Amino acid sequence: MADAVYAGSFDPITNGHVAIIRAGLVAFDRIIVAVLTNTSKQPLFSVDERIEMITHALEGDPRVEVDRFDRGLLVDYARSKGVNVLLRGLRAAGDFEYELQMANMNSHLNPSVQTVFIGANDYFFVSSTLIKEIASLGGNLGGVVPRCVEEKLRATFGP
Ligand code: PNS
Repeated sequence: MADAVYAGSFDPITNGHVAIIRAGLVAFDRIIVAVLTNTSKQPLFSVDERIEMITHALEGDPRVEVDRFDRGLLVDYARSKGVNVLLRGLRAAGDFEYELQMANMNSHLNPSVQTVFIGANDYFFVSSTLIKEIASLGGNLGGVVPRCVEEKLRATFGP
């Protein structure tokens, strides 16, 4: 058993992310959810808001640490935490090429780092980008995001 880093933008966290973390906890003792602050995408939510939603969604599970990841390479962040495994979720086949490229590049940058993929299964169709679009258009978010995220999106975009 080991620890894993699950990094991403989480803007916002979805039930797909939560499912990956819960499935990851079957294989790993501890998962560090690392929120990337310096993303090229313009985030909807601040890092603090994203961290608050993640913490709430995971109901303070002691095996999950929620952290922020400000700059630099993910492999260097993982090394700073003493972790050699990166966890990533896979949705549709379309994710595969990019994810494999990142996994191999990360192993190239640090050969002791390995990426473990977990299939998104029931949430294969869920993405933070689609969630924001649906929220902005008043669509139904039931079942695809944690309740705290749904409330936050409704407060942001209106009912
Ligand atoms: O939520 P995302 O956008 O799918 O997460 C992408 C993330 C954060 C995993 C990726 O952008 C990343 O690792 N960024 C850190 C910078 C880095 O290490 N880049 C080289 C990747 S091979």
